Amino acid sequence: MSYIDISYKNKFPCFQNSDIIYLDSGATAQKPQSVIDAQIEYYTKYCANTHRSNFHDANRATTEYENSRKYLQKFINAKDSSEIIFTKGVTESINFIASSFGKKFKTVIISCLEHHSNIVPWHMQGRSLGAGLEVVGYKDNFTFDYEEFESILKQNPNSFVSVTHISNAFGTIHDIKKICSLAHKYDSFVLIDGAQSLAHTKIDVQDIDCDFFAISGHKTFAPTGVGAVYIKQELLDKVAPYQTGGATIKTVTYNESVLLNSPYKFEAGTQNIAGVIGFCEALKFIDEIGYDKIENKEYELYNYLHNELEKIDDVLFYNTPKNSISNKSFNIKGLVHDDVGILLDKQKIAIRVGHHCAMPIMDKLKIKGTVRVSLAFYNDFDDIDRFIIALKRAIEMLKD
Ligand SMILES: Cc1ncc(COP(=O)(O)O)c(C=O)c1O
Repeated sequence: MSYIDISYKNKFPCFQNSDIIYLDSGATAQKPQSVIDAQIEYYTKYCANTHRSNFHDANRATTEYENSRKYLQKFINAKDSSEIIFTKGVTESINFIASSFGKKFKTVIISCLEHHSNIVPWHMQGRSLGAGLEVVGYKDNFTFDYEEFESILKQNPNSFVSVTHISNAFGTIHDIKKICSLAHKYDSFVLIDGAQSLAHTKIDVQDIDCDFFAISGHKTFAPTGVGAVYIKQELLDKVAPYQTGGATIKTVTYNESVLLNSPYKFEAGTQNIAGVIGFCEALKFIDEIGYDKIENKEYELYNYLHNELEKIDDVLFYNTPKNSISNKSFNIKGLVHDDVGILLDKQKIAIRVGHHCAMPIMDKLKIKGTVRVSLAFYNDFDDIDRFIIALKRAIEMLKD
């Protein structure tokens, strides 16, 4: 059976209301009806703050919020729900860990393929290349250079490693289990930027053995403004909160504040309650479909897209389908990616062009940006066919 035959578009209201071909899920994924409904239900039936008041609706809001935490815990196979801290998204998760636990380390190691959200927070600490920041390069076949990584670790044991699981710019997959095992061999800690992974592949934080795993809700079919960070149990007491205030404390006097245990000490102020509840629905939605179907369908789509693009003259690729998923970046020799984007938009194809918040790797490749097609399991062959027709038309017009 071909997984491609299974269509999920009827579960997403955006596809009923628009004839746009949506190929920009790496920027944000579309939301299923169940996620939208869960948020509407919270706002219309039991809108109240969590962990504070004791009336019926407030208790329901707290229960739904904490059930979402437990669901996410099981979803990524964390040991305990105290290891799950809700945030705004991956950017906030990385800023949190960087500015508390991560800042103590003499050396931070990233890959050359990071999103700005995993570069700028380290620069803000005054780190730069060779001065508190090391960057692992790539091999010719677009794979992470594990040998270089080990040699950096050997010279800088007890470092903080912060790397992406899947590249938003090129779709390249890193072997994060291997990265964690190498880092731990040299007494280092690892944060995985999982912004591009949870929507596409099963995550098991205990199996990966990462110390921190940053999650983006809105890229995982959940509402915008919600995400999480997993913190390994052994580290919960070693990580300082980076914001404090209401809801984080046991007691406060004019002299001192005594903080609650995790996760509460890390979640200061009123949280994105509707977002967290919607996030749980998104995870349930993924569970109903199953990662096996999602992965198999995306694999078929990705290879089909690559093969169709390969048939077009002068296409320049920046990865191979073998070690990549979801995001496909390319340029057309002699054409500017922005121009291609404008002509695709005119034909109702939603893709992203530019540096994809990954300027350093664009500089390294001596390009200004790329055209990026970003797939999710709700896409189908027809989306890719329509995109390829539109792309050929755009090339024809621009080469004329
Ligand atoms: C690899 C990567 N890291 C971090 C981010 C930022 O994630 P968020 O929007 O959840 O803050 C993105 C968003 O594009 C991303 O692709």
